[in-house]
Amino acid sequence: MNALFSPDFLRNPYPLYAQFRQNQPVLFMEPLGIWTVFDYEHVKQVLFDHTRFSSEFRPKFEEGTEQEQRGGGFSLITMDPPRHTQLRTLVSKAFTPKAVAALESRIAAITHELLDQVSETGRIDLIRDFSYPLPVIVIAEMLGIPSEDREQFKHWSDEVVASADSVVGATNSESQRAHEEMNAYFRKIIALRREEPRDDLISALLAAEESNTHLSEGDILSFCALLLVAGNETTTNLIGNAVLSLLENPDQLAKLRAQPELLPSAIEEVLRFKSPLQAMFRTAARDVEIGGQVIPAGSRVVAWMGSANRDAGKFADADKFDIARESNPHIAFGHGMHFCLGAPLARLEARVALQAVLERLPDLARADQDPLTPARGFIVHGVSSLPLTFTPTNRL
Ligand code: HEM
Repeated sequence: MNALFSPDFLRNPYPLYAQFRQNQPVLFMEPLGIWTVFDYEHVKQVLFDHTRFSSEFRPKFEEGTEQEQRGGGFSLITMDPPRHTQLRTLVSKAFTPKAVAALESRIAAITHELLDQVSETGRIDLIRDFSYPLPVIVIAEMLGIPSEDREQFKHWSDEVVASADSVVGATNSESQRAHEEMNAYFRKIIALRREEPRDDLISALLAAEESNTHLSEGDILSFCALLLVAGNETTTNLIGNAVLSLLENPDQLAKLRAQPELLPSAIEEVLRFKSPLQAMFRTAARDVEIGGQVIPAGSRVVAWMGSANRDAGKFADADKFDIARESNPHIAFGHGMHFCLGAPLARLEARVALQAVLERLPDLARADQDPLTPARGFIVHGVSSLPLTFTPTNRL
């Protein structure tokens, strides 16, 4: 199973997925001690059915720390009903598609500021200079973090995102310290917004009410940490994977340039073709039969969305990158009650970002043909750096 961690697999996991789908779509990987599910229909079942596959999970934080005392969870994503339903109802009141749509002009301004910094140079590391900072700045603005605190916020975000591995069991003292510093900071912001609400997400979370119930301070802190984990690296990789897929498929890039109205459908195809999150974890709630196998109660189960999205039983020409694909029921944002709450934001950021890249960086090409370094781990899928050249232009 070391194959799952090899750079070749991380760069291109799809041939191995195809073998698993063909031979053992539901499989116990003994060295890792996890059950794995690779085909579309079964992956959907695992994501959907909390009575068989629970999301409840408590990462192991050091004893006595605040994270440990609060249960350590990243809020919604590690909960089952009824708690999940209550919390999701409340946060959804603040995190509405309308609130997200209102951000479009700010996202465009941040996008152009980032491109201004490179447009005259003719070179960009698309990840470092663009697709990494963009979502962090957007979330900071949504939460109402003052711009002078942005660097600090970015540092916490990096540490919290790195500690997302705790969702599979472990965390370290560096990330715990970052969590605690960030929580102390957010507590101050929460107190300020209680006194004087503003037009930001924290004020909206404080105001959210359902049947006389409000979010507690702990709920809000966990939700803020979840936004960083769930929303930053994923969006970075969506934008990076989009540019890479277009450069690797010049016919599709030409088509998109000729028909810019295909951009939303191109983004859906990137989500399917190179899913930024390849897999999600669940725990078998009891002995569960699936795909002819019995998964014992308490086992960790990995549902591979990245593989499901290439299942030839569901998608015609599944390994072809086709920005005008007609039927594309991908599950890159999950399926069922945990369906990504940030999907409208991720789609909006990707659309604004790609439109600006295509318009402002002419003759975009790889700066070299060196093999690309995959992003960390097998859950996220992308590259850690993407050096590109383009014809320099004057700032807008
Ligand atoms: C949940 C993917 C961007 C916030 C999820 C899930 C997936 C996912 C697969 C379901 C997890 C499960 O079933 O256990 C993605 C991808 C993104 C993205 C591929 C970018 C391309 C974002 C953004 C935000 C966000 C930008 C917010 C700023 C959330 C939240 C949940 C979630 C809060 C938990 C929902 C729940 O458990 O009810 N995301 N996400 N995501 N995502 Fe995203």
